[in-house]
Amino acid sequence: MIDELRRLREEALDAFASARDVGELERLRVRYLGRKEGLVSGVLRRLGSLTPEERPSVGAAANRARKLLAEALQDRLSEVTAARPATERALDLTLPPRRKWRGTIHPVSQVIDDIWRIFQSLGFARARGPEVDTEWYNFVALNTPLDHPAADEQDTLYLAPGLLLRSHTSPVQIRTMERYPPPIRILAPGMVYRRDTYDATHTPAFAQIEGLVVDEGVTFVDFKATLAEFARRFWGPGTQVRFRPSFFPFTEPSAEVDVKRVIVREDGREEETDWIEIMGAGMVDPAVLDNVGYDSERYTGWAFGMGPARVAMLRHGVRDLRLFYENDMRFLGQFT
Ligand code: PHE
Repeated sequence: MIDELRRLREEALDAFASARDVGELERLRVRYLGRKEGLVSGVLRRLGSLTPEERPSVGAAANRARKLLAEALQDRLSEVTAARPATERALDLTLPPRRKWRGTIHPVSQVIDDIWRIFQSLGFARARGPEVDTEWYNFVALNTPLDHPAADEQDTLYLAPGLLLRSHTSPVQIRTMERYPPPIRILAPGMVYRRDTYDATHTPAFAQIEGLVVDEGVTFVDFKATLAEFARRFWGPGTQVRFRPSFFPFTEPSAEVDVKRVIVREDGREEETDWIEIMGAGMVDPAVLDNVGYDSERYTGWAFGMGPARVAMLRHGVRDLRLFYENDMRFLGQFT
């Protein structure tokens, strides 16, 4: 048995020396030094079969072998871990992975981008205007006298007399038409501001997207067809569009545009949604064209204003608008 122990010791030392990593050394520890199945323990367990005279010396030899091997293993373990680069040494493979936070595009910006891509392919250009604007651009040029109730409805935040945070993106219509002659085909996304309470469906600052088309011979048919085409491309071919009569001072006639979408339920069946209002729109009022110096006898046009946060709520089934604006990464990080 002494010979057996000696062989075991040599074999184990060789194996330790050629082991290359922690995992291999751990397997060797179990093989030679494990309490239950280990080979050294195996020898100790057989001490009972020896004569009482032989037992102490074999037992002592086995314990020495165990101690020696444990030390050799520890030494080799230090060598193997020291040989690895520092970063790898600190690696604990049992920890859950830490994924790098790269950031995502805000869900409302994603909607704006998707809407933009559709109108871009229909020949629209992108336009922008200032968020701080004058009463002229925000109201008066848009055929909205300051004492008109529509000006109250969009009661905005004044920075100085006559100077305000725009309450809609429609001033971009005026600014664009002042600078460029027809034909006009623009999409103008941007932030707008109103004195609204902060609740599940209102925020005092929100995004809007304005669309404007002005040219010779533009009719209500172009208006309806373009918006229906947009809706089908955005929500799918089964989408229906409805134009409800409405009022805006800068369009005549005016409409609220509703969509009825087809959604695929979890069980695979298709279902029609209720009608949902997505935008205000209409044929550009001739008075607005006159205000920018266009010949309203020659040119006609149509326009719309849409809330992309509303669209994002529909898209993701989000019930509270405020979630989009509270900058909680646990929420925003889900829209990759
Ligand atoms: N500016 C209107 C609003 O904010 C929306 C609109 C835009 C309506 C263009 C008609 C045409 O309520």
